[in-house]
Amino acid sequence: MDLRINSFAEYQDKYAQSVHDPEGFWDQIAQTFTWQKPYSKVLQWEFDTPKVKWFEGGKMNISENCLDRHLEERGDKVAIIWEPNEPGDEVIKWTYKELHQRVCQFANALKSQGIKKGDRVVIYMPMIPDLAVALLGCARIGAVHSVVFAGFSASAMADRINDAQAVAVITSDGLNRGAKQIDLKQIVDDALQHCSSVHTVIVKNCLGWKPAMVTGRDVSWEEAVRDQSTDCAPEPMDAEDLFFILYTSGSTGKPKGVVHTCGGYMIYAAYSFQNVFQPEENDVYWCTADIGWITGHSYIVYGPLLSGATSLMFEGVPTYPDAGRFWKVCDKHKVNQFYTAPTAIRALMACGNEHVQGHDLSSLKVLGTVGEPINEEAWNWYHHFIGKEKCPIVDTWFQTETGGIMISGLGAHSPMHATHAGLPLPGIQLVLLDKEGKEIKENEVEGYLCIKFPWPSMIRTTYGDHERCKQVYFSHYKGHYFTGDGAKRDANGLYRIIGRVDDVINVSGHRFGTAEIEDAINTNELVVESAVVGYPHEIKGQSIYAYVICNEAPSNEAEARESIIAVVSEQIGRIAKPEKIQFVSGLPKTRSGKIMRRILRKIAEGEADKLGDTSTLLDPSVVKEVVEGAL
Ligand code: WT7
Repeated sequence: MDLRINSFAEYQDKYAQSVHDPEGFWDQIAQTFTWQKPYSKVLQWEFDTPKVKWFEGGKMNISENCLDRHLEERGDKVAIIWEPNEPGDEVIKWTYKELHQRVCQFANALKSQGIKKGDRVVIYMPMIPDLAVALLGCARIGAVHSVVFAGFSASAMADRINDAQAVAVITSDGLNRGAKQIDLKQIVDDALQHCSSVHTVIVKNCLGWKPAMVTGRDVSWEEAVRDQSTDCAPEPMDAEDLFFILYTSGSTGKPKGVVHTCGGYMIYAAYSFQNVFQPEENDVYWCTADIGWITGHSYIVYGPLLSGATSLMFEGVPTYPDAGRFWKVCDKHKVNQFYTAPTAIRALMACGNEHVQGHDLSSLKVLGTVGEPINEEAWNWYHHFIGKEKCPIVDTWFQTETGGIMISGLGAHSPMHATHAGLPLPGIQLVLLDKEGKEIKENEVEGYLCIKFPWPSMIRTTYGDHERCKQVYFSHYKGHYFTGDGAKRDANGLYRIIGRVDDVINVSGHRFGTAEIEDAINTNELVVESAVVGYPHEIKGQSIYAYVICNEAPSNEAEARESIIAVVSEQIGRIAKPEKIQFVSGLPKTRSGKIMRRILRKIAEGEADKLGDTSTLLDPSVVKEVVEGAL
C-alpha cells in the first residue's frame, strides 16, 4: 500500500517510466488497491472529443478502499481528529473502525430515504467530522456527491442543485465560524424555494438550534441513522462511473459542474497524497482547507483515508480566538504535515511573530501551500518562522479539474526554489505553449500551461454539458488540456505559476469568473452595465474591482456601493464581494463592443501610465474619465 518515492533519483526514474509506459506505470500502482473485479484496460483516450477512460471494466468502491481495506491492520488507528471552533471544546477522535461503522450506518440511512446509486446529493455542511461521513456514505452507495461550500448563498446553492438535479441535501442547523454562527438550514430552505428535484433534506444537529422541519421532506440526521445497521456492503462501481461533481467558476457563464469518476480519482488522490506529503505510519497530517473545495476532497478526506493516514479536521478559522490558533493546534496534536493557503500565511504573518512564539512546532516535517502563487516574503516567513528552516515547503499546484496535485516537491526529496511549485508528479506531462500553440521546449521561458497526456484524476466532463468541457479545456490548443494558467520554467525545469490568463479571479484561493460577478451586479436595479477585474491584494492575493455604470449617477455613492455588495452576497456569497466599486459613465470598448479588460486591469493595478495601445477603442475619452476616477 506504500506508494512513496524515496529519493530524487527514484523520482526521475519513475517519471521517465510514466512517460515511456504510462499504462504499465499506472497499472502497477492501481494493483495495490482493492478491486471487486479487475479492469481489462488501463487507458483509452482521445482529447479532441474529449473521451478518457481509466481502468475500464474494473469494479471497485472508494469507501471500501478508504475504510474496509484498513480494518485488519489499522482498525484501531485514528482516522480523523476533529479540532472544534472553540479551543476548549471536546476534541473528537474516530478510529478507522468507528468511522467505518458510522459511514455504513449513514449509507443505510441514505438508502432508507430512497437515495440510490447515481442520484445526486448536495452537501452543505460545517467542517465537522460528520461531513466526512456524508461524503463517504454517498461513496458507499454510489450516490454522486456535490459539496457546496457553506459560504455560498441560497441562490448559488439553488443553481447548483438545479444544474445537478439533486434529489437530496445534507445540511445542519447551523455552523460556527470563529465568533460567527451561520444559519445553514434557513439558507437551504430559501434555496429549495427554487428547486423541485429535492425530495429529502437530512439535517445534522450541530448547534442545538432545532430548526423548523418541513414534513415529508426534512429528517434529522440523528433520527435517520438511529436504527440503521453498521454493516453496509459497498456498492460495486464501474471505474468510470460518476464519483462526484464539484462546481467551479470559469471565464464565462455560470459555474460548471466538474465531474470526477471513481477509479482514476481514487488512485491519483492516494498516489499524490503519499508522495507530496511523505507521511509515515504514525504521523498526524493537517490540511486547513474546507471540504467545500477540491483540496478538502482530495487532501482531507480521500487521499489521507485511502492511505490509512490520520487526518486532522478543523472547524474554525486561522484567527480565532487569536492569530496563534494554527500553531496552537499544531502543538496540541503534534502535527507532522501542515498544509494551508498563501492567503492564510500572509494574514498570519501580518499579525506578528508573537503569535508563533510559545508554541512547540518541532513535530512539523513538511509544510504545504496551495491555491494561488505564493510570494517570496510569505514563503520565507513560512520557511523560517514555522518550519524553522528544517521543513521542506511543498508548493502544490492543481485545480478542481485536475482532481489531484500536478506540480509539487515530494517532501524533502525534490529541489526547492522559493515561489516555484517545482516539477510535475510522475505521470503528468506538462508543456508550455506559445500564443500560436507551439510547444516551447527550452528552459527559462514563459508560456501557457497545458497537459498533453491523460492522468487518472482528470476531469471527464462538465455535468450535463459535455460540449462546454470540450470548448473550455480541449479546444484552445488541439490535443492538449489547457489549464487557464500562465507559467515560467526556470533553468532547472522547475515551474513557477504566474496566474490565470483568462477572466478568472483568484481571491484568497477562491475562484470567481468576472462574468459571474458582473451578472450578479447587473441584477441591481441601479445598474446598467458593469465590468469586473482582479487586482493585486496584499493578503488575498487578488481582490475584485468593479467598474459600474448606473442609470443615473448615484446621489449617495456609499449607499449605492452597499446595495451592489448586497446583490453579490445574495447571488454568490460574501466571499465574492467587490473590494472597490468605481462608478463610471462609460467603459472602454472596442469598435465591436468588447470591453477592453486589459485597460481596466491596468487602471485597477494603479498602472494607468502603462495602458499600451488604445487606438482600437471606440471612444478613447472614456479612458481619461476612468483613470481620473480610479480608487
Ligand atoms: C487555480 C485552481 C487546487 C487548489 C485550490 C484551488 C491557482 C492553485 C496554485 C499554486 C499558484 C495556484 C491556479 C489554478 N493555483 N494552486 N500552488 N500556485 N497558483 O482550486 O479553485 O480549482 O483553482 O488556482 O490559478 O488554475 P481551484
